[in-house]
Amino acid sequence: MVNIKFVKENKEIDAAYGANLRFKAQENNIDIYTFMGKLTQCGGYGQCGTCVVDIVEGASNLSPRTAVEDRMLKKRPSSCRLACQTIVNGPISVVTKPDKKESLKKAKAEAAAKQAAEAAATQAKSEQASEEPASTVAE
Ligand code: FES
Repeated sequence: MVNIKFVKENKEIDAAYGANLRFKAQENNIDIYTFMGKLTQCGGYGQCGTCVVDIVEGASNLSPRTAVEDRMLKKRPSSCRLACQTIVNGPISVVTKPDKKESLKKAKAEAAAKQAAEAAATQAKSEQASEEPASTVAE
């Protein structure tokens, strides 16, 4: 059994290892859809992108992001998932209906941090290359 905590709803549920997050939320009367999401949701087939949740704890206990999620969640931080595409393999804490503006800010900060890390790695490589002694030609 795994524990799923829904932060906004202040509700904890137990689920079987390998449970689908959307299914467990609905089974326990946790509303994961916004008003528009209720009208346009695809029923859990990964087609609409309306079942977005933010995993605030235990993200490593989930199945990896699917290609559908990568495509639909481009403007969301890596902590966001589509509940219908997410399999739970350990304890997690979930925020339902995460704020779009906050998500966008978080995603931009994440991208900036990634870019800075890549720049630092590139600089370190070039510094290391310039410190290496030039090869000498044997006479
Ligand atoms: S319910 Fe449509 S993508 Fe999850």
